Amino acid sequence: MTDKLIIFDTTLRDGEQSPGASMTKDEKLRIARQLERLKVDVIEAGFAASSNGDFEAVKAIADHIKDSTVCSLSRANDRDISRAAEALKGAARSRIHTFIATSPLHMEKKLRMTPEQVYEQARLAVRFARNLNDDIEFSPEDGYRSEPDFLCRVLETVIKEGVRTINIPDTVGYAVPELFGEFIRDLRQRVPNSDKAVWSVHCHNDLGMAVANSLAGVKIGGARQIECTINGLGERAGNCSLEEVVMAVKTRRDYFGLTLGIDTSQIVPASRMVSQTTGFVVQPNKAVVGANAFAHASGIHQDGVLKARDTYEIMRAEDVGWAANKIVLGKLSGRNAFKQRLQELGIEMESEADTNAAFARFKDLADRKSEIFDEDIIALVGDESVTHEQEHYRLLMLEQRSGTGERPHARVAFAMGNDEFHVESDGNGPVDASLKAIELKVRSGAELVLYSVNAITSGSTESQGEVTVRLQHGGRVVNGVGSDPDIVVASAKAYLAALNKLHSKNDRVAAQG
Ligand code: KIV
Ligand code: ZN
Repeated sequence: MTDKLIIFDTTLRDGEQSPGASMTKDEKLRIARQLERLKVDVIEAGFAASSNGDFEAVKAIADHIKDSTVCSLSRANDRDISRAAEALKGAARSRIHTFIATSPLHMEKKLRMTPEQVYEQARLAVRFARNLNDDIEFSPEDGYRSEPDFLCRVLETVIKEGVRTINIPDTVGYAVPELFGEFIRDLRQRVPNSDKAVWSVHCHNDLGMAVANSLAGVKIGGARQIECTINGLGERAGNCSLEEVVMAVKTRRDYFGLTLGIDTSQIVPASRMVSQTTGFVVQPNKAVVGANAFAHASGIHQDGVLKARDTYEIMRAEDVGWAANKIVLGKLSGRNAFKQRLQELGIEMESEADTNAAFARFKDLADRKSEIFDEDIIALVGDESVTHEQEHYRLLMLEQRSGTGERPHARVAFAMGNDEFHVESDGNGPVDASLKAIELKVRSGAELVLYSVNAITSGSTESQGEVTVRLQHGGRVVNGVGSDPDIVVASAKAYLAALNKLHSKNDRVAAQG
């Protein structure tokens, strides 16, 4: 058995299934490029058959990514598999990941199929997929709650049909580490041709044990692929978190004895990019990537770390990509310095026009903020208004008045398609007044379900504010993110970004629907 652990990232597929985390094609491509810099082995780019938008995103990623294998999910039917193969055509290395539920509950209540029908469908789907691609992964959905005899029969057959990777999902996050590890070990022992496939684990975090279960799947069960997401993003309580599982295997190499291809210095940039793109804020005490993960507040700890770092630190902050906040550019920096910094941060703009638009925004920001940090640059290139993606709503101007004893009032100008509108409103506060003014014209009818503000760089009131707005409408949930030194302006940008997402009707079939 090999000692290489394959890291399969599903931020862009399972992660994106979290309500509100849906991403545009350009956002997904930007994240895929960062995942390639992180050197993940496999990028699950989406579920090509679920919507035209997802098809285009998988295709764009397949066309651009050269170093990681690009994968598309597909249900176990010919149409989905053909769509996945079509989207992946341009990839240097590609994989089709096909799945069908095998637990009694899912087969009976969700699929309304007999076990025999599921068995046959899995067999035929893999046979069909194998004619289109050499690299096929198969997942028995809700595998951990499936009946072992039946599961072994299905797995033996799909391996015979040519599957290269068998992925066992704990779809509902029900497993506990020891039992999950033994479950994987038993399957590998009982399936006669198990050595012909790489075994993989895919754990959800409903009981907070996704990382522990995945590691047990590796240590006890002998799995050699872990499916995970940046920041543990994913449906409900999320998936196994990439940064935690990778740093556990690296830091405790003495125990796991496994090698990884990951460039860990790209972990924090990846975490920031995913959080800034989706608006899913990382909790400060989150392992590895939380703002406090390497902060020592108590005097005793600080003293210890100053005397010898390893008294209280088991990993080095710089090894996971934490750089001390660095002032990188300022008002006098020119276009070349800006372009070079983008390159150093690994940010590739799609075109010269995008670079020019980003530089114009940088100049605008530098006029209002004396010190520009890497985080500011990442936020400004993530801003939809500097990418070529078509925006329906755009903020043009915002003015607001507020003070003690005065009812706040806002005047907002924004573009809606090719038209320009000027609106004004009172509100409980300046943010409320601004969003109400926009709603007076847009009349989206959307419900605001989340509003949060964070400082992009810590330690100073000069930081830009980053606002996340989550809107719910007609069964859809979308997040909008906006940043600006003025948090009222950031709020209006975030609100319009969320309205843009609602406007681009990109309905999709759910993977686990
Ligand atoms: O959780 C799950 O079962 C999945 C499968 C589609 C692999 O995401
Ligand atoms: Zn999943």
